[in-house]
Amino acid sequence: MTEPLLQVRDLSVLFPARRGAPPVKAVERLSFEIAPGQTLGLVGQSGSGKTTAGRAILQLQKASAGSVRLLGQELTTMRSGELRRMRRHMQFVLQNPYSSLHPRMTIGQILSEPLQVHHTVPKNRIRERVEELLELVNLDPAMIRRYPHEFSGGQRQRVVIARALAVNPDFVVCDEPVSALDVRTQAQIVTLLQSLQEKLGLSYLFIAHDLAIVREMAHRVAVMFRGRIVEMGSAAQVYDSPAHPYTQLLLDAVPVPDPVLQRERLRRPPPDLRFLDGDHCGCVHGIDHARDGTPEWHEVAPGHGVSCRYWPRGTGRDAA
Ligand SMILES: Nc1ncnc2c1ncn2[C@@H]1O[C@H](COP(=O)(O)OP(=O)(O)O)[C@@H](O)[C@H]1O
Ligand SMILES: [Mg+2]
Repeated sequence: MTEPLLQVRDLSVLFPARRGAPPVKAVERLSFEIAPGQTLGLVGQSGSGKTTAGRAILQLQKASAGSVRLLGQELTTMRSGELRRMRRHMQFVLQNPYSSLHPRMTIGQILSEPLQVHHTVPKNRIRERVEELLELVNLDPAMIRRYPHEFSGGQRQRVVIARALAVNPDFVVCDEPVSALDVRTQAQIVTLLQSLQEKLGLSYLFIAHDLAIVREMAHRVAVMFRGRIVEMGSAAQVYDSPAHPYTQLLLDAVPVPDPVLQRERLRRPPPDLRFLDGDHCGCVHGIDHARDGTPEWHEVAPGHGVSCRYWPRGTGRDAA
């Protein structure tokens, strides 16, 4: 197997108690690897810790424990100068293309900034590089003097992607990169991200709550629930033979394109979501993980794992 580009081991983020609120274990012992040129999809409901995980990997959020190695180098213990130099290898693309671009800067200024910060091209070549970046994301290089408000949501997201790629990163965290866009634009941005991956050999951590989009993008998929990965495998393994009841619930919520199948599915009783509330730590079997400990990681098949005490007995809705 190729050396992983990114290796995350037992990464945890604990937000301390604040103003009467109890501490939040936002991310708990996350472990995974991403190979060069590959995409790991990170799925889970809102609040499951996906953004915090992405930020902790990029060292934008301090981890309470664990290790993050990028290109063989440990990031969690790096000094700020070293980390600044590593930043050009790892970039972030955020959900909202409206708030992530400075309204008073031209597209040219927005795209020149990272080049100046990281000194990746000589001064007299910056303009050329900016035009090249615009072409890379299929925007007209003539847009260089325009301002973000003159663009559509999809065009702005292309600018955000171009800015992330300006410094030639190896790894990009895409946090809900298409969630704020209409369906047609979503498809265009997904296609763009895929072609950029092929062209530039990028690795992505692709965070989304939309499972249909993740299926299209990801080689491997990790399902996150309340800060933990409860299942991980190839996209086919996770989507076609989900082993964790929570994964099955998430998949049940995705509409199927076939109208007959979809109607049939809607006739079935809705999934029992009670276990998502209360003290059960999200266990469909009603186990209190906080008291009894996290279930072991079981291998379902090579490359496919699940964290459920009741696996392989009693998985699925019927077992609850
Ligand atoms: N800066 C913060 N301080 C305290 N709690 C936070 C902070 N950021 C996120 N959280 C909490 O951590 C949990 C995970 O949040 P987040 O990573 O944003 O989830 P997701 O991206 O999956 O929606 C939530 O319970 C959220 O309220
Ligand atoms: Mg988020």
